[in-house]
This record gives sequence, structure tokens and C-alpha cells, in this order.
Amino acid sequence: MTPPKSAPVANNMDAFLMPFTANRQFKANPRLLARAKGVHYWTPEGRQIIDGTAGLWCVNAGHGREEIKAAIVAQLDEMDYAPSFQMGHPKSFELAARHAAMLPGDLNHAFYCNSGSEAVDSALKIALAYHRAAGQGTRTRFIGRERGYHGVGFGGISVGGMVNNRKWFGAMLPGVDHLPHTHLPQNAFAKGEPEHGAHLADALEGIVGLHDASNIAAVIVEPCAGSTGFLPPPRGYLKRLREICDKHGILLIFDEVITGFGRLGASFAAEKFGVIPDLMTVAKGISNATVPMGGVFVRKHVFDGLMTGPENAVDLFHGYTYSAHPLACAAASAVLDIYRDEALFQRSAELSPYWEQGVHSLKGLPNVTDIRNLGMACGIDLAPEGAVGTRGYKAFVKAFDLGLMMRQSGDALAMSPPLVIEKNQIDEIIEITGKAIKAVA
Ligand SMILES: Cc1ncc(COP(=O)(O)O)c(C=O)c1O
Repeated sequence: MTPPKSAPVANNMDAFLMPFTANRQFKANPRLLARAKGVHYWTPEGRQIIDGTAGLWCVNAGHGREEIKAAIVAQLDEMDYAPSFQMGHPKSFELAARHAAMLPGDLNHAFYCNSGSEAVDSALKIALAYHRAAGQGTRTRFIGRERGYHGVGFGGISVGGMVNNRKWFGAMLPGVDHLPHTHLPQNAFAKGEPEHGAHLADALEGIVGLHDASNIAAVIVEPCAGSTGFLPPPRGYLKRLREICDKHGILLIFDEVITGFGRLGASFAAEKFGVIPDLMTVAKGISNATVPMGGVFVRKHVFDGLMTGPENAVDLFHGYTYSAHPLACAAASAVLDIYRDEALFQRSAELSPYWEQGVHSLKGLPNVTDIRNLGMACGIDLAPEGAVGTRGYKAFVKAFDLGLMMRQSGDALAMSPPLVIEKNQIDEIIEITGKAIKAVA
């Protein structure tokens, strides 16, 4: 018999199909987070966990920010929802103007969505629409990069370069090529931007030679690849990519879902590296993860290129019910206030040398084969133990048992703490990481 709706339901964890998780393994020995404030989580039993990853690279201003909560609650009181198709609400326009004002170069228009994956698919579609509007409808191919992560939409996995995210899902988008990744052994233990590898951007010339530029819409890369163990770009690589794209009229898309909003010690990677992409995807830190939000920032020529049809015609046949959701806009605006008032991007830059010193102090520990860092993020490679990912997973679980949340991708460990972290808390993260690495030797 079906129980009445009010009857308690046994919670055996079975019902939730967890994303990117070994469901059965997790449910046999769960890691639950019940509360968060500042740079800490607490388990349901009250055990304190230091957040070495700002959630999933997203809680840049720290957890439980009262200012953001107040803005969301006020917005909810005023108006819960308004559509953005042929309608609008003031906060979306205000937010776009604020983003435009803080973005480098003429990246001065914003499209909003609900996640990084949506941002990536939106950017790819905007690139296609832009070329078509310019009478270059043959430009349909996309170039991604090996080891890239661009979310989980069909566009994102097609241009992405992580085998497990691709191999299960059939043919994906047609017409996609990949640049080689930039993780070179000769750069092992480099601090900041590695020395070798700018030449890897030249592979784009080879792809142009194969297909002709007239068939290529856009190149998409993460300025720093995040999800495959944090790979900062070789010195000069992004500039070279920009030059080749300019030469051939190919749009350059930076996926700044992780690098945006202060992670690298600048507002965006585009600012940090002095390379302005034609389109930029963002999410995560845009709303400090309080309300799901993503965005695509586009340069003036891309925006203008879409505004060439009749004035009464829809300019972009793309959008989401929750594009520029009022709660997300309210949250994102409050987050911008915090970033400005607490100078968090500058704080990120100021803390980076201390972070760099801390993470590189782990060199020499058993099985550590590489350490990379830039801004307030790092990647640490461990030598595999049997199947790929076994040692990495063990280190991740051990760290959690010792009170630290880190990320694991195969045998790479990655960290990216909230930008409000204090130096003694960085020390704690490094100490626990070292213990976890030793424990899995
Ligand atoms: C570079 C990059 N792009 C896109 C995404 C996808 O974002 P979301 O999980 O919000 O869809 C991520 C998520 O980690 C990311 O790191």
C-alpha cells in the first residue's frame, strides 16, 4: 500500500543518483556535510572540516555570507521570478552593467544562464550565430583541447578532453578537433606559469591547414585547466593562441568558470594574462554558489554582430527560463559588493606567494611527482598505485578523515580555498595534505 504523504520515509540514501560519484561505495561509507560558515564545513556529527576547495571552486567569498543572504531574502520578498524573454527586471540590467564595468577590454555584454555547462553551450551557440549573421555560415567547427573540462552538456563534452566524460555518450557534436594538452614533464614542479609549451598553440595552425579557417567557428580553452589536476598555461601560450585566432578570424572562448572572480589573483584570467577572448564563460564565483548562475560575457563586436537583423526580430534564438533569475541577480550583485569592499581579488594575489610556498613544501613527500600552482589554486600529482585513481582516492578520503576537503581527479589532488582564508588556515591545509599523502605511501 502507498503510504500517506505525511508518513516518514526511510532514509537509506538509495533514492539519490549522485553525480560524478561512486554511488555504492559512497553510500556504504558516506561523507556528509551538514553546515558551513567561513572556510569550514561541519559534518552532521559536528566534526569540523576545513574547505580546501571553496566547495567546488565556487565559494570564493567564504560560506554563509550574511550580505548575500539578505539580498536574496529581500529579492524574494519583492519579486520571486520574472521572465527574461521579451520582458525584463531591473536587477538583470544592473548586474550586466556592473559585470561589463569590471571586465577587461571591450568584453562589455553579458548573457546569463544557470551553470557553467549552460554557459559553455551558450557560448558555442553564440559563436555559430555570430558567424552566420556575418554571412560566414560555413564556420561551424569547434576546437577544444585534450584534458579540457567544459561541463557536461553535449557541446561541453564534445569540446572537452576528459575520456570518461566522453566515452559513455555516443557521437556527441560533429566537427570538433582538439589541441594537445599542455601538461609537459619538463615543467614538473614549476612555480606559477611553466616555462615550456607556448609552441603547443601552433597546433591550431595545423588544424586550420586541415579544415581551412573558413570552416572553423571557435577555439575554446580553460586559461588554466582545472578539472584534470590544475594545469597553468605555459608562458606565452594564450597570447600565441590569440594571435593565431586573429589571423584566421576564429573566435577565442576562454572558459573562466573556475578562473573567474579572483581565483588567479586578478578579476579574470583574461586580465591576469593580458589576453582578451572574444567570449568568456563564467559561473561558480559569480554568485558565490548561493543561487545557481552562469554567464557568457561577449566583446562588443560579437554583440554588435548579433544586432544586425530587423529591429523587431529576435536577435538570439537561445535562452533559459531562468536566465537572469531575480534571486541569482540579487545574489551576484551582493557578491560583487563583497569582492569590491573586501578587495578579495587583491587579497588572492597577496596570499598567492604564501600559498605557493606552502604547496611546494610538499615536494619530496612519497609518490609526489609534480606540484603546480597559480593564484590561489594548486594541483599535486601522485604516482599511481595499481589502477589509476586508487592512490588519489585514498589520499582524498584520508584528508577528509583528518578534517580537510580537497578534490581528486585520478591521481591528481587539487585545491582552491576560499579567498578569505587566513595564513594559519593555509598552514593547516598544507599540514593535513602532507599527512594524507604520507598515509597513502
Ligand atoms: C572550466 C569549467 N567549465 C564548465 C564547468 C561546468 O560548470 P557546471 O558544473 O556549473 O555546469 C566547470 C565545472 O567545474 C568548469 O570547471
